[in-house]
Amino acid sequence: MNNENKTSRREFVKNAAVLTGGVIAVPLASHANFFSGADDTIKVALVGCGHRGTGAAMQACLTKQNVKLVAMADAFRDRIDSSYKALTADDISETGASGNIKNKIDVPEERKYTGFDAYKKAIAHADVVILTTPPGFRPIHFEEAINKGKHVFMEKPVATDPAGVKKVLDTAEIAKQKKLNVVVGLQRHYQNSYRELYSRKNLIGDITSAQAWWNNDGVWVNERKYNQTEMEYQMRNWYYFNWLCGDHIVEQHIHNLDVVNWFKGGYLVKAQGMGGRQVRKGKDHGEIYDHHYVEFHYADGSILNSQCRHIPGTMSKVDELIIGTRGKIFCGAANIQDHTGKVLYQYDTKKENDPYQAEHDELFAAIAKGEYKFSDTENGAKSTMTAVMGRMATYSGKVMEWEKLLASGISIMPKTFDWNALPPVVPDEDGKYPIAKPGVTKYF
Ligand SMILES: NC(=O)c1ccc[n+]([C@@H]2O[C@H](COP(=O)([O-])OP(=O)(O)OC[C@H]3O[C@@H](n4cnc5c(N)ncnc54)[C@H](O)[C@@H]3O)[C@@H](O)[C@H]2O)c1
Repeated sequence: MNNENKTSRREFVKNAAVLTGGVIAVPLASHANFFSGADDTIKVALVGCGHRGTGAAMQACLTKQNVKLVAMADAFRDRIDSSYKALTADDISETGASGNIKNKIDVPEERKYTGFDAYKKAIAHADVVILTTPPGFRPIHFEEAINKGKHVFMEKPVATDPAGVKKVLDTAEIAKQKKLNVVVGLQRHYQNSYRELYSRKNLIGDITSAQAWWNNDGVWVNERKYNQTEMEYQMRNWYYFNWLCGDHIVEQHIHNLDVVNWFKGGYLVKAQGMGGRQVRKGKDHGEIYDHHYVEFHYADGSILNSQCRHIPGTMSKVDELIIGTRGKIFCGAANIQDHTGKVLYQYDTKKENDPYQAEHDELFAAIAKGEYKFSDTENGAKSTMTAVMGRMATYSGKVMEWEKLLASGISIMPKTFDWNALPPVVPDEDGKYPIAKPGVTKYF
């Protein structure tokens, strides 16, 4: 079933947080570093004009700063058109915002770019770049943005394989040297309840273990159309192909794994787990699993138990539980309890904010003031690596080690980006794709 056409404009924005530990606030030498014009307009380019990209562009335009969207890039023209229509609508109130943002959208025909090279052309026009394609492309697009001296908002995950994570980490160093702000769309870091819980994490003592869940029914499917090349089909149905998506453990469960890394203040050293496909058996279900269960180990021996499942009719739960020597943090319920169940802190949920909007409010305010304040990249890349390591553990059934994987250079990306090129996985004569088999699939 194709659910994409049913997406309302409200969801464009709804699909829309990380102060990486300490916040750096270093005034920049000159506004000329990031303002390309003489006025104070902050020019934005959108790369990936789908649901999230449209929402993020709206949020950028809804900040208090003088923002203009000046260029759009997408692999497909129809995605630019639907995004542009939503952004220039007379009334965007169904997104939760009031009025419209038409006067902030300045994207004439000659600044709408399509195809695999479109990103380069759009990025050239901007001070700030929004990167919201499927995550497989993120390392390439991020590298271009930073090399060209742009500030970045980029969605999670930031890669789909160890080579991609490494490229993003290397590029993060350049971003730091150039003092370019980077916000990664792990929006719980920008969400009031999570920030309040984080600031009180000492109430639970030392963190000894954690649980993380992303269990629900699953996501959209874009069925194959008769006239598509294999490359176009996979790009349209990207969720089901690892080079584009990373599997749902990477694409969605990253949010929960990232929260645990954040509270723990570190990353994992090894992982082992199990997973498979119980219900994802159709031709349009590509190669990803529908469930994973992974035991992640931190260097100090504490363990993160993670489960993610996309199976309709099963228990839904998207949450994190962090367990310490003196108590527990229940992230979803936004409270902290001791081991007898006594509530030590309860966040007032009436004070909850829209973290998607907060990401942009904070990023654009820093840019307007000439501050270097956000360097989310390293955290975004390492939480992506956590999830990639989880997938490689469930696919292989072997213990995966962080350092070995990160140094492995393993890439699952295509060598050539062209509509007629063959992607790295292709279907057999029955239209089925090869599926990873624990015990058989090997990475080393
Ligand atoms: N933080 C969150 O809560 C949240 C929510 C939703 C989506 N996201 C993230 O946003 C990203 C996009 O998700 P989405 O739901 O918007 O998907 P989508 O399919 O609606 O949009 C992706 C767009 O990117 C385009 N695209 C693909 N390859 C491209 C390329 N090489 N160059 C230019 N454009 C290209 C596609 O044609 C499509 O229009 C994903 O990484 C996803 O995980 C994050």
